[in-house]
Amino acid sequence: MTHAAYPELRLRRTRAAAWSRRLHAEHRLTPADFIWPLFITGGRGVEEPVGSLPGVSRWSVDLAVARAREAAAAGIPCLALFPNTPHDRRSDDGVEALNPDNLMCEAIRAIKDAVPEIGLLTDVALDPYTAHGQDGLLDEAGYVVNDATVEMLIGQALNQAAAGADIIAPSDMMDGRIGAIREALEADGHANVQIMAYAAKYASAFYGPFRDAVGSGGLLKGDKKSYQMDPANGAEALREVAMDIAEGADSVMVKPGLPYLDIVARVKDAFNIPVFAYQVSGEYAMIEAAVTVGAGERDALVMETLMSFKRAGCTGVLTYHALHAARLLGG
Ligand code: PBG
Repeated sequence: MTHAAYPELRLRRTRAAAWSRRLHAEHRLTPADFIWPLFITGGRGVEEPVGSLPGVSRWSVDLAVARAREAAAAGIPCLALFPNTPHDRRSDDGVEALNPDNLMCEAIRAIKDAVPEIGLLTDVALDPYTAHGQDGLLDEAGYVVNDATVEMLIGQALNQAAAGADIIAPSDMMDGRIGAIREALEADGHANVQIMAYAAKYASAFYGPFRDAVGSGGLLKGDKKSYQMDPANGAEALREVAMDIAEGADSVMVKPGLPYLDIVARVKDAFNIPVFAYQVSGEYAMIEAAVTVGAGERDALVMETLMSFKRAGCTGVLTYHALHAARLLGG
């Protein structure tokens, strides 16, 4: 068997015309690939731009409903909700997370009522509710304790499910929380509520603008390295994913996105389950900063980065550029 070689073989042939490039594309983006994160704030008719995330705002529940309508019209299948809890409702134990009338539950009910066709993914972790900005409960030494935190997360997840959440997304990185939440959901009559585990979530420098958006940045002392993963580790991510799958996760997430595409590809190869990536706030800010100084063109940067997630094996991507990208794709 002889193999073609140059000049019979010319890999540029299929790239020569636009129609042929389209025909040979191995991956395609559609608006159905995106989950759009929305930040929720109190009041009515309130839009608060987030300084470190140009183009992203916190919305009061009524305006979040309007954003949900736009997203659904653009073909986006799912939103991810994050509350900016009023500071007087934050406490050391984050008990506001269990309040059936907290901002998150209010937003879930309002959006489900007005735009029932869009899915709602809700974040489970205590950081938007704690006075110290950590994702869990602290002991006297300031260590985030695992098992007592999981008990709180179970209550938080059930609270969100009761309000109408479709996908529970624990972002806290406690051990054992996926199994505990799954069991509680089953027992509480929420058999069809999914769990998307933030399975491989790294202690990243790319979360800064998000912490501004949910108002936990100024409160946070120290870091989250005793529960979020070390960026040096890849094999450990596969153990995290295996653990969450064994505990009943329907899908897993890798976070941040672009600096961890190797992890996405390894997870997809190893487990062949739905894998999502979170193109996080700092990644969004990086693209916008590049556009501002004329270092790149927004639409092209957005589309190229989003395509890279599909190529790496993602089923979908959480991205603050979701609405913009969906519209570019004709949604
Ligand atoms: C916290 C949480 C974070 C993000 C999502 N959920 C930040 C953190 O772990 O401190 C980051 C998202 C982003 O940066 O866009 N549970």
